[in-house]
Amino acid sequence: MEALVIEGGVRLKGEVEISGAKNAVLPIMAAALLTHEECVIRNVPDLRDVRTMIRLLESMGVEVVWKDRELRIKAHSIKEPLAPYELVKTMRASVLVLGPLVAREGVAKVSLPGGCAIGERPIDLHIKGLKALGADVDIEEGYVIAEAPGLKGALYIFDKVTVTGTENILMAAVMAEGETILENVAQEPEVWDLITVLRKMGAEIEKVEPNSLRIVGVDGLCGFEHEVMPDRIEAATFLITGALCSEYLVLKNARAEHMVAVIAKLRECGVEMEVSRSAISVKGADVIDAADVETQPYPGFPTDVQAQYMAMMSLARGTSVITENIFEKRFTHAAELRRMGANILVDGNQAVVRGVEKLKGAPVMASDLRASASLVIAALAAEGKSRISRIYHLDRGYEAFDKKLEALGARIRRVKE
Ligand code: UD1
Repeated sequence: MEALVIEGGVRLKGEVEISGAKNAVLPIMAAALLTHEECVIRNVPDLRDVRTMIRLLESMGVEVVWKDRELRIKAHSIKEPLAPYELVKTMRASVLVLGPLVAREGVAKVSLPGGCAIGERPIDLHIKGLKALGADVDIEEGYVIAEAPGLKGALYIFDKVTVTGTENILMAAVMAEGETILENVAQEPEVWDLITVLRKMGAEIEKVEPNSLRIVGVDGLCGFEHEVMPDRIEAATFLITGALCSEYLVLKNARAEHMVAVIAKLRECGVEMEVSRSAISVKGADVIDAADVETQPYPGFPTDVQAQYMAMMSLARGTSVITENIFEKRFTHAAELRRMGANILVDGNQAVVRGVEKLKGAPVMASDLRASASLVIAALAAEGKSRISRIYHLDRGYEAFDKKLEALGARIRRVKE
């Protein structure tokens, strides 16, 4: 295992390139299972989750070539429509192969992901959606086994907004017979990046109401070429880093239109930002004002930025209340931030953060992907040295985070534990 050692207190400055979005590339890779033609995906970030998805596709006999940020995927035939436990347990998003496999092969066996550090995270709505399209679904020995010689279009209303649930059912519906209406779908830009890809493949999908989609099934889909959208969560992480511990940062290839809630919240805290077509610049703030926040499905404030925001609120002027509405246990970073001197009280799905003058470096442990990022931000802002262990979480979703920070002037090094 590896750890990051960070000497805090250095003011960062410079330009940083935002990578392709993890949460967009994974469903797009799964969509390549829907056709036997070659699919070309560009701007692919080098992440552990991308490597896991490649292993999963290869385990099904799919040809994958990855070079210079470009992935070529050819699912000429599928050896066995199976996502084994060993892979699903390291990456929940493996469940995204369920919809495409049932659509293409009429059968799929996918391990149930189980709970994780941020909560229970069931996939009942994915299963209900497949059943609505006519699949027989059973759970046997920890596996979801879905069978449907032919899926049929239907009306399906998601009980709750789910991102991968929407993506899975969408990918199942594109080749179902007839019309499918999906209601209460997720609106995340990553869902729209997938819809763009499915349309390039020949799928017929239209938005009929603000949160409904109409899909008319087609007989077959073709290959595609696509450049993955920039990662808005990585960009938000750098904006917060910039506000808290830089003179200035310029985020290249960041799309402000995907980050309206985050930018508005940071402005409320007094952070100065300039937005252009494909870049955002942020100025380090002398004082950051405390502001309450609640996580919501898109276009609300993302749960994936809550931990990084909490690191910033730890050093803000005043008290803020952070309400987590998406995942029930997503505050594990609070206890670690406290080890660095933060004043945070957690009560159920709310955290009350009283801003302190300074944080002090400490040994801390990363427990999930975004929690890791919040600890890195806190360590950069803290006085003295911090050691963040278990950074494999960080490597799942941030491309070369330590290298990018180092290029901005951070004193950061990766060590073996
Ligand atoms: C995706 C993102 C993740 C982000 C999350 C919320 C990917 C690969 N991951 O995860 O980074 O934090 O959206 O924005 O895109 N739920 C159910 N039953 C289901 C499905 C979901 O109860 O069948 C619940 C979940 O437990 C959670 C809420 O719905 O409370 C939203 O979860 P969901 O949007 O599905 O998250 P993911 O798609 O797993």
